[in-house]
This record gives sequence, structure tokens and C-alpha cells, in this order.
Amino acid sequence: MKFISPVPSAPIMASLLFALLANTTAAQAQTAPQTLYQALGSESGISQIVDEAVGIILQDERIKASFKETNIPRLAQLLKEQFCVISAGPCKYSGDDMKTVHQGLGINAAQFYALAEDVQIAMDKLTIPSATQNRLMALLAPMKRDIVSPRLKQ
Ligand code: HEM
Repeated sequence: MKFISPVPSAPIMASLLFALLANTTAAQAQTAPQTLYQALGSESGISQIVDEAVGIILQDERIKASFKETNIPRLAQLLKEQFCVISAGPCKYSGDDMKTVHQGLGINAAQFYALAEDVQIAMDKLTIPSATQNRLMALLAPMKRDIVSPRLKQ
């Protein structure tokens, strides 16, 4: 009868240990927390999203009239800074707060949702995964109370 040792031999132990470590590393890589900034593609990814979104906004019949007198390159730059900051990126936002900027513009809720939708369309075009899109939308949504004009709230 062949004797089977209950203790694995050294080479088997070594390969078991290796497999365990390899698995741990793979699992850690999968669950490693990724900031939204990284998920959006860092500075260049955010830059593409904003440029794409601004292009869509300026053609959107629902809201384009609001931007007739806006300095668009400046707006795009400030949106890039803002998206970077709120997604935990290494940036500084140099614009004004949302309430100060938008008060008096008479923006209603439908216009707010139209702009948010345009940002989503831009992210779709750039094949940003929907889970990542939702993370950005969740950060933009609370801005509604500062952007929509009180008298026109729907
Ligand atoms: C989540 C939604 C929105 C975000 C995150 C956002 C963000 C911004 C930012 C960062 C600026 C530049 C701030 C500055 O000039 O210091 C800005 C300006 C502006 N936004 Fe919004 N905005 C939003 C929704 C809207 C909507 C729905 C409208 C109108 C339909 C709008 C109209 C404008 C206009 C006209 C300006 C330029 C104001 C000026 O130059 O005096 N925004 N926005």
C-alpha cells in the first residue's frame, strides 16, 4: 500500500502559498477603491467629457438660449475644474459658488435635468460605464437647489 503523507511536501506547500498570494493580489486589485476622478479618466478624461457635454448643451434647444452671452471657453474650463474637485481629483475650483452664478438666470427644473442629461449623453459617447456615470450624477443632483430659481421651482 502506498503511504500518503497528510503533510504536503515542500514544493506543494510552496505552490499552494503562491496560489493563495496570487489570488489575494487579484482580489485586492478588483476591490481596490478607485476615486471617481480616476474612473472618469483623470484630467484628460474629464476634459473630454466636458468638451463633449458643452458641444451637446450648445445645440440643445431646451437650454442653448441660456448660454448666448456666456464665455464658453471659460465655462468649459470652470466645469473641468469643478468636475475634478467633486470627483476627488487634485484640482482647485476657481469659479464662484453655484448659487451666486445661477441666481437670477431663471433656470427651471426641466432645464436643470436637460443639462444633466446632456452630460450623460456625453459620457455615453465616451463609453463611460453607467456605474461611473451614476457616481457623477449623484454629485451633481444636490446642486439643483442652488441652480434652479426658487420662484420657478417645479
Ligand atoms: C448640474 C448642473 C450645472 C452645473 C454643475 C453648472 C456649473 C456651472 C459652472 C461651474 C459655471 C461657471 C461658474 C462661474 O462662472 O464662476 C456655470 C455657469 C453658468 N451656468 Fe451652470 N451649471 C449647471 C446647470 C446650469 C443650467 C441648467 C443652466 C441653464 C440652462 C446653466 C447656465 C449657466 C450660465 C448661463 C452660466 C454662465 C454665467 C455667467 O457667465 O455669468 N447652468 N455653471
